[in-house]
Amino acid sequence: MLLLTVSVVFIIPDALERQNTESAMTLPPLSRLALACALAASLAAPALAEGVVNLYSARHYDTDEALYAEFEAATGITVNRIEADAEELFERIKAEGANSPADVFLTVDAGRIARAADAGLFASVDSETLDRRIPAYLRHPDNLWFAYSQRVRMIFFDRDTVDRPPQSYEDLADPRYRGMVCIRSSSNIYNLSLMASMIAHHGEADAKAWAEGLKANLARDPKGGDTDQLKGIVSGECRIAVANHYYFLRGLTGEVRGLTAGIGRIGWVFPNQGDRGAHVNVSGAGVLKAAPNRDNAVKFLEYLASDGAQRYFADGNFEFPAVPGVGLGADVARLGLFRADGLNLSALGDNQAAATRIFDEVGFK
Ligand code: FE2
Repeated sequence: MLLLTVSVVFIIPDALERQNTESAMTLPPLSRLALACALAASLAAPALAEGVVNLYSARHYDTDEALYAEFEAATGITVNRIEADAEELFERIKAEGANSPADVFLTVDAGRIARAADAGLFASVDSETLDRRIPAYLRHPDNLWFAYSQRVRMIFFDRDTVDRPPQSYEDLADPRYRGMVCIRSSSNIYNLSLMASMIAHHGEADAKAWAEGLKANLARDPKGGDTDQLKGIVSGECRIAVANHYYFLRGLTGEVRGLTAGIGRIGWVFPNQGDRGAHVNVSGAGVLKAAPNRDNAVKFLEYLASDGAQRYFADGNFEFPAVPGVGLGADVARLGLFRADGLNLSALGDNQAAATRIFDEVGFK
């Protein structure tokens, strides 16, 4: 008998959420094509086989190997993976349509996940386990997708020169901080999601006024990624920086040039702890409508919500688990506990277009 359930891993590394790199190298178009063809050939056969789940993932961390191996050992279901940029996978799933071998789409950022949901790619999952384990704000209201880890958009500051750091996203627009704030481009999905949450909480008019205030407080034109904003504090160019928490932890625990040596001067604030809680974003996954191995896909999603998988999943990128009560990794625990904004993350997707428009209107680069 021919056995076709060999694990397949393809990594197309540009723009992957990859540990220690903000922007990874890019493959030439021909290599991509070759990979895509190899992929199509490899996945075509096992798509309908028993004991398989086909995962399209925009995430790759070292701990993922253990994550998938444990699932395979526990269930006998082989995980066939394709790892690529979220945008490529999204387009690919759309193009493959009803013939797609993909069972699960795993990606980062609620805005991207919501876009896949809006495009009708996901099927609703009825799972008592997922309902119980994943808090309501971390899943789609119709259970089209589920979040598995949380990342916090945090405020960082120079301990040497900032006595009273901003305590909220709203404070970032306070004239008291004129010329002090560094943040990456408004076109980045992290900032679009933050803006989307501001719109959800304050309405478009106030969100626009906030964007104007934030722009007026910039220390420099937006440039670079989140790590570069933190480096700006070390170099003295920025007194305040906005970045996802894990970029700071990479600098704290590893050797990030321009950051680690001077990281002691950087303080941090979990924003809005006095009111609605900090804006969080997520890694999340959903079962695809055309999934050929739907039952296995649901098993996989349920496995991701287990205690053990939650730790692997979160620790891979210094993130906070989605499931309450799962302990924090030692490095993440150094930041302390925080209160998350309970806004349902599907709102971030709903407000993406408005977020882009408002940033454009105020001329925020
Ligand atoms: Fe990131």
